Amino acid sequence: MREKVTAPSIRARKGGPKIAMVTAYDYPGAVIADRAGIDIILIGDSAANVVHGMATTLEIGMEEILTHVRAVKRADPRALVVADMPWLSFHISVEDAVVNAGRLVREGGAEAVKLEGGRKRLAVINAILDAEIPVMGHVGLTPQSVHAMGGFKVQGKVVQAAREMIEDAKALSEAGCFSVVLEGIPDVVGELITKDVDAPTIGIGAGPATDGQVLVFHDVLGLGSGEYPKFVRPYADLADQAVAALERFRADISSGAFPSDDEVYHLSDEVTAELLKGLESR
Ligand code: KIV
Repeated sequence: MREKVTAPSIRARKGGPKIAMVTAYDYPGAVIADRAGIDIILIGDSAANVVHGMATTLEIGMEEILTHVRAVKRADPRALVVADMPWLSFHISVEDAVVNAGRLVREGGAEAVKLEGGRKRLAVINAILDAEIPVMGHVGLTPQSVHAMGGFKVQGKVVQAAREMIEDAKALSEAGCFSVVLEGIPDVVGELITKDVDAPTIGIGAGPATDGQVLVFHDVLGLGSGEYPKFVRPYADLADQAVAALERFRADISSGAFPSDDEVYHLSDEVTAELLKGLESR
């Protein structure tokens, strides 16, 4: 029996064995991730895109995220369960942010929360940490800032922006975030941040130097449209396999090959004879 992964145990992994994180949004996804020995399951707001078919993560709210968190928690994973704080759940006031983080823990069963943003989110992060909720930071290409960034663009490509990002990541680590996600940044910036901050970094499109890597469940399993960003490596082609399986199912229905005799419930000969007799005499 492997030990439960916790926020402090992830924090202690800095410079140690690389951390494997994947998103999951439901019970079977969490069971699969946990069977694979994944360290952290993130109920990402990427559910907006890959589960709900929304164009951006700005469209998903607390209630949908909570439903996904509860479904994941029912799998009782060994992995640490981290819930993403959706857009506007931590932007309105510090109090509101603590209430929303608390809901993800109390009503969903999350063991930590993740929120996007650097130094300007420090007040919120400190208050959530004060409420004894572990926080995972997230800097770089933060999808909730899509309009402010002018699109989904690699961040930190100029010296000043890279320096700002390093300061952001350092501040999150010093505030007490147990890890920091680095998304969509040049590899050298990922490496500099990883060297510079005490908290483990978990990269997605941030190069190989980070303390761990994360990918979206549907991307890593090839469950998406087939078009993936450069940093995605699909380790399976489950969407194609699912289509092929359902095509065979449909063909077997048409031909009558499904269901076979083994796949139906039978009455005993005695009861069948009795039933038919009753029908014949009507
Ligand atoms: O929502 C999400 O899936 C994420 C990961 C990309 C880190 O935030």
